[in-house]
This record gives sequence, C-alpha cells and structure tokens, in this order.
Amino acid sequence: MTRIGIIIGSTRPVRNGEQVAAWVHELASRRADAEFELIDLRDHPLPHLDEPKPAMWGSYQHEHTKEWSARIGAFDGYVVVTPEYNGTAPGALINAFDYLFAEWTDKPIALVSYGVLGGARAAEQLRSMCGTLQMAVVGPQVLLSFATDFEGQTAFRPTERSVAMLNTLLDKTISWSNALARMREQVLSVS
Ligand SMILES: Cc1cc2nc3c(=O)[nH]c(=O)nc-3n(C[C@H](O)[C@H](O)[C@H](O)COP(=O)(O)O)c2cc1C
Repeated sequence: MTRIGIIIGSTRPVRNGEQVAAWVHELASRRADAEFELIDLRDHPLPHLDEPKPAMWGSYQHEHTKEWSARIGAFDGYVVVTPEYNGTAPGALINAFDYLFAEWTDKPIALVSYGVLGGARAAEQLRSMCGTLQMAVVGPQVLLSFATDFEGQTAFRPTERSVAMLNTLLDKTISWSNALARMREQVLSVS
C-alpha cells in the first residue's frame, strides 16, 4: 500500500499547524488507495544541522539523523503543512529537509500552507527547495487564509473551497506516489 507522510511544519508550543494537519489527515484517511501518517517534527528534535558530511553522500554519523532517515525513507510521498514565518517556511522545517537527500529524491510532495496571504510565500520557497532535492512538487496546492479559513486567527474553519482543493491535491499526490514508486523500482532493478 502506498504510504504518504503528512509533515507538521510548526514546532511551536501553541500552533495552528496541529489543527490543519489533523484536518488533512482526517480527509486523507477516508481514502482506501493510500495510507497516511502524521510526522511531527517535535518527535524528531533535530539540532541545527550537525552532520559532518553533506546529506547527498548518504553517510550519517548521528543517531538522530539515522532515525529521521528511517522515518522519512519509509514513505512514498509527502504532504507538508507549513505556516509562513517572515516570508518563508519555518527554520525547523527547512533544517529537517537539509538533513537528508536520497530519502526525499524521486518522490512527490504536496504543499498545504497557511498565513495572512495563505502562506503563499512559504509555499513558493518550499516549491523551489523541493525541486532542488529532485522531488516532484504536485501542482494542486492548498492556501489557507486567516481571512477566510480561520476565526480570530486561531480557530481553524476550512471553507468548502479549501476542502475541494485538498481533495484535488490528494488525488495528484496519490497518483504520483504510485507512479514514482514504480519508477524507483525499475531504476533499482536495472542497477
Ligand atoms: C516568527 C513568525 C513570523 C511570522 N511571519 C509571518 C509572515 O511572514 N506571514 C504570515 O502570513 N504570517 C506570519 N506569521 C504569523 C503566522 O502565520 C501565524 O502565527 C501562524 O499561526 C503560525 O503557525 P503555527 O501557529 O502553526 O506556528 C509569523 C509568525 C511567527 C511566529
């Protein structure tokens, strides 16, 4: 069964990200064509990148990196739920990406962002970063605005339009996860 991880990009003690990620997980879990699991960065408290070798060499020294590698490597695709901090994604989230390379490569990723302007700038930065990691960033995107999808900036109330956008995003993430899993298997079988 195709496995897709939903990454919670915020680590703050009081975070809107938890409500948003729970919504993504709930809608996604109604599907029979893939399995979804929440990945909370709080469960992987990575220090500022402290590996002596670049991730693309695939040689990890620290236990926290090996654990993160095993967790991320087990999925066929990802949905990242990100807030926007100072016009980009949270440092903890970017740091978590920087730790690994092959675990991300040749897999799809979808972006669910939130903020004053739907977290659009954070999503754009992640789109570019994930492209560099040779991930396939799916086109459909969910942008959740404090003006329309939250009450008082803290109570998450997704609009019907956002629900429809999320379903479209999940369709594409699942189909690309299946296609790229086959591609990775073919590459492995000829090498
Ligand atoms: C350090 C910091 C920077 C922020 N910068 C932005 C920003 O550039 N654009 C924006 O729309 N919201 C910004 N915000 C507001 C966040 O979108 C809002 O606090 C959101 O709830 C953060 O997600 P979280 O609660 O899951 O951590 C910022 C919040 C913090 C803590």
